[in-house]
Amino acid sequence: MKPDQQPTILVTGGAGYIGSHAVLALKQAGYHVVILDNLVYGHQDLVDAALKVELVVGDTNDRALLDQLFASRRFDAVMHFAAYAYVGESVTHPDKYYRNNVIGTLTLLEAMVAADIKTFVFSSTCATYGVPTEVPIPEDHVQNPINPYGATKLMVERILADFDVAYGLKSVCFRYFNAAGADPEGRIGEDHNPETHLIPLVLMTALGQRESIAMFGTDYPTPDGTCVRDYIHVNDLADAHVLGLEYLRQGGASDRFNLGNGNGFSVKEVIEAAREVTGKSIPAVAQERRPGDPPALVGSGDKARQVLGWNPQYADLKLILQHAWAWHQKRHAG
Ligand SMILES: NC(=O)c1ccc[n+]([C@@H]2O[C@H](COP(=O)([O-])OP(=O)(O)OC[C@H]3O[C@@H](n4cnc5c(N)ncnc54)[C@H](O)[C@@H]3O)[C@@H](O)[C@H]2O)c1
Repeated sequence: MKPDQQPTILVTGGAGYIGSHAVLALKQAGYHVVILDNLVYGHQDLVDAALKVELVVGDTNDRALLDQLFASRRFDAVMHFAAYAYVGESVTHPDKYYRNNVIGTLTLLEAMVAADIKTFVFSSTCATYGVPTEVPIPEDHVQNPINPYGATKLMVERILADFDVAYGLKSVCFRYFNAAGADPEGRIGEDHNPETHLIPLVLMTALGQRESIAMFGTDYPTPDGTCVRDYIHVNDLADAHVLGLEYLRQGGASDRFNLGNGNGFSVKEVIEAAREVTGKSIPAVAQERRPGDPPALVGSGDKARQVLGWNPQYADLKLILQHAWAWHQKRHAG
């Protein structure tokens, strides 16, 4: 496709972890991509070196900037990754989360409606479910978030349902389980600061940057007593976003999909698999449970497979760890 015929997609948060992988997947699928990121957590160096797309440095709360951007060219759709995503901070600073994740998204949606852009792909989360009563969790499971972060994402899901009825804005909400892994070619990967996710913390311990990895709770009602989570390769997430976009562009109705593998791994299993992949001892220390950690979070991805034709390529914990380990050594060693 000639560059001037390529559909143009705005990717908010495209300088962050998952958004940057979606940018590569979109480019691969023939889309023209523009990133909007305020760089609070994003990485300009990765955009420049690996993504090689236009980066607009700005905030979703800046309505004047959005109006200017949407007037500057025709955008066919928006993929919205921009949000704050630290669960603990959302409990201590809920105002920051409601302002960024809810008001920022509402501002973006209002600007889209004004510019007649009607296609939206949204990063939601399994945290909207709260403590599940059924595992693997299906999409119609009751949503009862137990922290402000999850609440902000559920509020946006509600706003999107209402914007569909009122303005015909069509959306796909993806409720991710635990994103992990890195670009198999090693160009980009996870680099959060502060880091709170298990796999990068385990790998930082393997690199000697942390003394040990904490296991929060070893007395849960799970096979080995540690929490069980569903780890989904970031490239599989990125592929689902392209499929979700194409589904909407072909006239699909607004819908929501879990993105999980349906397989859970315990904290102990992840640490053991990381020891095998890295060849390092990785000291682990048992600690008290953290409030608000459900024992097991595993999501059924059956609906995304059936409706979108999603076919995860990297649903294998060792492969996820290998890609993440290659990235961590490149990005973080020394
Ligand atoms: N990482 C996970 O396991 C996971 C799981 C479920 C859902 N999510 C959701 O996926 C999305 C991406 O997560 P991530 O891990 O890539 O996070 P990330 O912090 O790496 O990326 C988010 C990006 O958004 C940017 N940003 C934040 N607020 C902004 C704003 N108001 N305007 C412009 N840019 C802004 C940040 O600078 C950052 O580059 C988030 O919405 C998150 O809630 C992530």
